[in-house]
Amino acid sequence: MTDPLTPVLTENWAEERSWTLASYGAYAGLDKALTMTPDEVIAAVKDSGLRGRGGAGFPTGMKWSFIPQDNPNPKYLVVNADESEPGTCKDIPLMMANPHVLVEGVIISSYAIRANRAFIYVRGEVLHVIRRLQAAVQEAYAAGHLGQDIHGSGYSLDLVVHAGAGAYICGEETALLDSLEGRRGQPRLRPPFPAVAGLYASPTVINNCESIASVPAIIANGPQWFASMGTEKSQGHGIFSLSGHVTRPGQYEAPLGITLRELLDLAGGVREGHELKFWTPGGSSTPLFTHEQLDTPLDFESVGAAGSMLGTRALQIFDETTCVVRAVLRWTEFYKHESCGKCTPCREGTWWLVQVLTRLERGEGSEADLDLLLDQCDNILGRAFCALGDGATSPITSSIKHFREEYLDHLRQGGCPFDPARSTLWAPAPEEVTA
Ligand SMILES: Cc1cc2nc3c(=O)[nH]c(=O)nc-3n(C[C@H](O)[C@H](O)[C@H](O)COP(=O)(O)O)c2cc1C
Ligand code: SF4
Repeated sequence: MTDPLTPVLTENWAEERSWTLASYGAYAGLDKALTMTPDEVIAAVKDSGLRGRGGAGFPTGMKWSFIPQDNPNPKYLVVNADESEPGTCKDIPLMMANPHVLVEGVIISSYAIRANRAFIYVRGEVLHVIRRLQAAVQEAYAAGHLGQDIHGSGYSLDLVVHAGAGAYICGEETALLDSLEGRRGQPRLRPPFPAVAGLYASPTVINNCESIASVPAIIANGPQWFASMGTEKSQGHGIFSLSGHVTRPGQYEAPLGITLRELLDLAGGVREGHELKFWTPGGSSTPLFTHEQLDTPLDFESVGAAGSMLGTRALQIFDETTCVVRAVLRWTEFYKHESCGKCTPCREGTWWLVQVLTRLERGEGSEADLDLLLDQCDNILGRAFCALGDGATSPITSSIKHFREEYLDHLRQGGCPFDPARSTLWAPAPEEVTA
């Protein structure tokens, strides 16, 4: 098999002290960008076909062009590096191994939208990543890549690394802005959209960490280079994170449109002696797939047509030892815990989902509980204030669709038909250890 990997963001990860400026080298993309006008940089990113890597896939260059340049307020760039969804684990290793590609991307992107202040919002728990980013920003200042009159161009930029306090909802872009302003992070009503009234009510671009980190190579190599990878409508490369029951879990950077079958080949397959049962294409908020979607191209359109979402390309692999009801319960407990409480369908609904799922997982419910669960999901989907509520319903509805009989087996057997001791996914609860 020819190697389908396209290491760009991950290319230097194995190098000695890859996170230092000495290892990263010159900011070649920035040098080139500063010879272009800001509008030319925006046009190049548009032409590349880059779509947001934070989940929704919105065209990045188009987002930048929405910033009203006649607005007298300062413009801001905010990088979303909150990365808190179960399974999603690409931005943290990227910032750990290659922080300078993000810093360089921030400078080019800020130049394009004419911002003189930028922020990287990182989840607070990853202190090691925050320290590494801060060190990279210091190095960039010392080298003249940040600060006043960058490379003698007359352009100036200050970059702040901001640590969040560890709430999944602060990854939602408007909740992130509230948090950055010092308030409790809860989503804002839109419109106005951040491009018009974002941070401090000023024009703001918010992009995912990987989106911004993709910019230097696009500028250095040209938009056609990026657009030549991937599929017609999902262009370029992306980091695919394989986790769970896979022989070699990790980050696999490949063109969009690669399939799970190809990625599993690269990752040594499902762990030895076991077979694939279900998987998420893009994190816990994307509907589950089974072996039937092994050959579905992992691009925005094909995954959508197959009934799920590409999301953050967080491919969580579960083999036949996993109880799907238990896995879904664990995710649902997460959504209940992380619900910010602003709207009733999600605040109350996620609590009720956990009650019913717990009953089913213990084999104590009845078949009518499955319809009750679906009805509860129906009352959350499309009625919640932000996408957290919608996301909470995805694992439930998709697991009932694919594994209804397994739910019923719990009822027939009066408990979980899986022997938890055979599964490597779940640590036993303390009472199980002492019993
Ligand atoms: C509950 C919730 C959590 C989110 N978490 C993140 C996150 O951690 N990182 C991220 O980039 N986008 C996250 N998003 C999506 C952002 O709202 C936004 O769409 C994204 O940052 C835009 O960047 P992009 O256009 O570069 O993809 C989240 C959305 C929701 C509803
Ligand atoms: S859907 Fe959930 S997280 Fe989003 S605003 Fe409503 S309560 Fe908050």
